[in-house]
Amino acid sequence: MKEIGERYHVLYYAAKAGNWKLAQHELNVVISIFRVGGALRPKFNQDFTTFTQSHLNPISEKIRAKDWKGFEDAYSKGIEEANKFHEKHGYGFIRYVLPKNPPEHFDLAAHE
Ligand code: HEM
Repeated sequence: MKEIGERYHVLYYAAKAGNWKLAQHELNVVISIFRVGGALRPKFNQDFTTFTQSHLNPISEKIRAKDWKGFEDAYSKGIEEANKFHEKHGYGFIRYVLPKNPPEHFDLAAHE
């Protein structure tokens, strides 16, 4: 989950900077962590799958379309829903927030 939080941060600022390839890469890794995580933690498997289908796949579509406005909307819905899942599983004290600043350990500019 910690890694998901970090990658979810990076993918936002990558999309904002127009580096759609980096955004897609980070999202793909998030999706695959949820897939593997569901196998390791069967209790969360169904919710991980639901979340991928209802929130992560739509973000992926907006990335492919290079649609910033649509991306922002889908992205923030993902945060709201993630926090609902935290509550559902007794982790209401874990509320993800998008960091105010871009990550500093990536050059976010698009290098094709
Ligand atoms: C992009 C979506 C999500 C983000 C950014 C996110 C972020 C986080 C973060 C930052 C933590 C704290 C990790 C730590 O430092 O210990 C956490 C914990 C947790 N999250 Fe999420 N989360 C997301 C989606 C979900 C979903 C869909 C579920 C569904 C079950 C979920 C269930 C949990 C649970 C049970 C914990 C506490 C136990 C643990 O750390 O594994 N999260 N999440």
